[in-house]
Amino acid sequence: MTDYKQKIAAAVSANVDMCSADVYECIEYPKNPEMGDYSFPCFRLSKTLRKAPALIAKDLCEKLGKVEGFSKIEAAGGFLNFYLDDALVAGEVIKEVLFKKSEYARSNIGGGGTVVLEYSSVNIAKPFHIGHLRSTMIGESLKRIHRFFGYNTFSINYLGDYGTQFGKLIVAINRWGDKAAIEQNPVPELLKLYVRFHEEAEKDDSLNDEARQTFVRLENKDQEVEAQWKFCVDASMIEFSRIYKKLGIDFDSYNGERFFSDYMQPVVDELRTMNLLETSEGAEIVNLDDVGLIPAIVQKRDGSSIYFTRDLASAHYRKKNYNFVKSIYVVGSTQALHFKQLFAVLAKMGRQWADECKHVQFGQISIVGGKLTTRGGNVIFLEDVLEAAREEISRIIEEKNPKLPNRETVEKQVGYGAVIFQELYTSREKDYVFEMEKVTNFQGETGPYVQYTHARCCSLLRKAEAQGLSPSGDFRAELLLDDASVAIVKLLRKFGDAVELALKSYEPHHVARYAVDLAKAFNRFYYENPIITDDRELSGARIALVGAVRTVLAEAMNLVCIDAPSEM
Ligand code: ARG
Repeated sequence: MTDYKQKIAAAVSANVDMCSADVYECIEYPKNPEMGDYSFPCFRLSKTLRKAPALIAKDLCEKLGKVEGFSKIEAAGGFLNFYLDDALVAGEVIKEVLFKKSEYARSNIGGGGTVVLEYSSVNIAKPFHIGHLRSTMIGESLKRIHRFFGYNTFSINYLGDYGTQFGKLIVAINRWGDKAAIEQNPVPELLKLYVRFHEEAEKDDSLNDEARQTFVRLENKDQEVEAQWKFCVDASMIEFSRIYKKLGIDFDSYNGERFFSDYMQPVVDELRTMNLLETSEGAEIVNLDDVGLIPAIVQKRDGSSIYFTRDLASAHYRKKNYNFVKSIYVVGSTQALHFKQLFAVLAKMGRQWADECKHVQFGQISIVGGKLTTRGGNVIFLEDVLEAAREEISRIIEEKNPKLPNRETVEKQVGYGAVIFQELYTSREKDYVFEMEKVTNFQGETGPYVQYTHARCCSLLRKAEAQGLSPSGDFRAELLLDDASVAIVKLLRKFGDAVELALKSYEPHHVARYAVDLAKAFNRFYYENPIITDDRELSGARIALVGAVRTVLAEAMNLVCIDAPSEM
């Protein structure tokens, strides 16, 4: 697609003492559309030219005369404003979308480099709650966004499958567990056993000893205990897999903390040879005073390994095995210090790739009625939220369109999609409150609203098809000069920019917002213009626009991990 900024840069630099690259960097996008599509500020030139910026703008405007691609160039104060030739742009953009389809706006920024993305990282035998959903969806969306730009990706679910709590859990299963019941309803049953363990241990302290010994046996790879541990993992994974399926997600690796506990020793040895380890109150630490961080504990007093060290091992494993250009950790902001320490220790070890590691953090979510937690009775299971959303959508469809074909599938796509979209619509570092009524509303800035708009495009395309009209590059763009059409074309042109912004800031919400903006622009167009009319040329142009909107909307939805039903 034409880079209009480039055209401006070339034209301006030919007339002033500034190279084209410098002009290019200076060009701005006016906030107010009345001021044009691009603007060149003349302030910088006023020193060398010894003239007022307003005068420079005026002179430059006269010198430029006409520039290809622009219908108007105007001097306003110290700015030179450029107005795109809307018909030309509409023709170009719509044709490009119709021709490239889902390849539209993609580019090869990544050049095939591998990006490792760790996300979801749920904990075995603990609920998959809405906080984990945030990690899951941000991570999956970032994966798709990286692929859009030609990166190769490797996704990891770093399961929380290790720690002393497994000693307790195994003791509880042995004493009071019913394996069939656990397999039926894994996490709630395991959770119950875990709670029971704590209650019983209050009365009988020997249980704690037994749990400690059991964990030591697990560390020593005692076959019997290992099998019991595996039972917990497998049972939990039955439940988690069901959820990932609903969310349309899978991972390239499920290697969790336990797996990496076998890779710790060489790293700890190396820290020791490098003289980076200090003993403090019996524990082994890496001092991080020089970078203003509290020390990282690598080994506890009792010699047992910890979370930090497993991460140190897994970071090395990722570099060695996947040779990443970037390694992303999508984990809540409560662990910000942990990741700062981790990257700082890697840097101390001389790992240049420490700079390629990035903690993509996110804020907390509360569901109306308090924080989400895995302890205490106040747990909100994600699956319940997903199902509640599906039921609400089912109720709305029953009201609006009870005869909808494939109704069950659509209810899932829209219900689950509503929850997913909500996660990605809020900028990630903000805390936010999850409110079901808002999330499932067909009218708000929601997943269902975007999906409904997509279905509306599909429905128009079906009607057009029935009259022998389909979106084609052979249309008269000068028929698309009403404000609503022009606004849509401008958005279509900026799709790649929105996705690139999401890539650079690790913020899928730029794509989610883009989808809502495009949906809004389309609905305005829909209400202002009859689309299929007696005038075949006009209908042809409008249908081409509808086809382009449908394609880009579907692609944006795919990037934020929601389905695009063709009927709703
Ligand atoms: N399982 C942890 C939790 O749920 C998150 C793991 C984060 N990833 C990591 N590499 N430390 O809190």
